[in-house]
Amino acid sequence: MISISDCQLLEFSRIFDPRGSLTPIEGGTQIPFDIQRIYYIYDVPAGASRAGHSHRELQQVLIAISGSFDVHVDDGEQRKTYHMNRPYLGLYVPKMIWREIDNFSAGSVCVSLASAHYAESDYYRQYDDFLRAVRSDA
Ligand code: TYD
Repeated sequence: MISISDCQLLEFSRIFDPRGSLTPIEGGTQIPFDIQRIYYIYDVPAGASRAGHSHRELQQVLIAISGSFDVHVDDGEQRKTYHMNRPYLGLYVPKMIWREIDNFSAGSVCVSLASAHYAESDYYRQYDDFLRAVRSDA
């Protein structure tokens, strides 16, 4: 069974320069899945909460490219919160983990690297449905 201990922080390299810092992310070596999609969340109003779902199969890496936010991960038994506030850190979230994202700082941007194209059929959007699925899998 997938657990929150399968979530992990990935640290990407930083190339420092008097002109500014640069972080490359290479598919195939630094991300534990083939990247099929990138999307980003921005212009988040104060107090808003995003996500609030789990995926049947999708894996993701979430990055605070700018600013900060909190990612709460939940495997149906345990919860953990990651405060994301560095553009060189990514949070790997495997399938079957409920996640909520909140506490966005003003102007923050959350980039998501995803293992598949968008498919609504891959979502659990109701926490009860997610819990039932996790428990029937145990
Ligand atoms: P949603 O999954 O609700 O966002 P959050 O990550 O906060 O839960 O997505 C919001 C809307 O955007 C919803 O109508 C589905 C659509 N959407 C796409 O069309 N493509 C995508 O890649 C994503 C992530 C969402």
